[in-house]
Amino acid sequence: MNKNRPIGIFDSGVGGSSIWQEIHQLMPYENTVYLADSKNAPYGNKTQDEIVSLSKKNTEVLIEMGCKIIVVACNTATTNAIDVLRTSYNIPIIGIEPAIKPAALQTKHKSIGILATKGTLSSALFHKTTKEFAKEISVVEIIGEGLVPLIENDELDSNEIKALLKKYTTPMVAANIDYLVLGCSHYPYLIPQLREMLPEHVSIIDSGQAVAKQAQNVLQQKKLLTDNKNQPTLQFFTNTSTTTLKSLLKKYSEKTIIKTMDF
Ligand code: DGL
Repeated sequence: MNKNRPIGIFDSGVGGSSIWQEIHQLMPYENTVYLADSKNAPYGNKTQDEIVSLSKKNTEVLIEMGCKIIVVACNTATTNAIDVLRTSYNIPIIGIEPAIKPAALQTKHKSIGILATKGTLSSALFHKTTKEFAKEISVVEIIGEGLVPLIENDELDSNEIKALLKKYTTPMVAANIDYLVLGCSHYPYLIPQLREMLPEHVSIIDSGQAVAKQAQNVLQQKKLLTDNKNQPTLQFFTNTSTTTLKSLLKKYSEKTIIKTMDF
């Protein structure tokens, strides 16, 4: 297989671009194709069957575009659909899961918070991970209801989003957490707002870097790392307006191509 084929990445919308940033930082010469299925966001309140079928659709588009590996840059899609994707397609598939394990290993207060979608928190995979790594500690699980649509709408600094974050973090602070796990790839874009309202001793962690590293390891094992040393092609496709993606990725505006496409 040609190693200069792109890395394919998808999310229910714009959030997985936070994961794309980690991938691009770690592997700056890799060509990438990102699909933002914003038309169907949020996935978090859909049934598992719906999430599986949307995830298959996105994966097929990326395979059709010649991708050499798929990164599911969405916790909701990973926790609900990764097994089906791995058995359905003959291509390496990397997923993203909430960073429960590092938080559980590092907490001194024996208390951590997790903010994620309903789809992630109710998934069997999430329950399995929590049971395995966090059985000795208290885990405050909060559904980030309403956050994804506001992020999709480029309203990161709105009073509405700040009020929701305050509401969701209040019970966590009351439970004396020292780690907040961001279990949705949209949420890293809210770190500045969260930092303002959380006590200093609370560390905020997400899985972006770990996913990028995992993708690099798999590409290396399969001898699929690019040998390109020129400016890569960095394509983004959304099935709604390009406004929010362009705004989130503005520091990359000179090298990225962001377009609307029907899929
Ligand atoms: N960004 C997604 C995640 O990581 C899903 C958000 C949603 O569509 O509900 O879970």
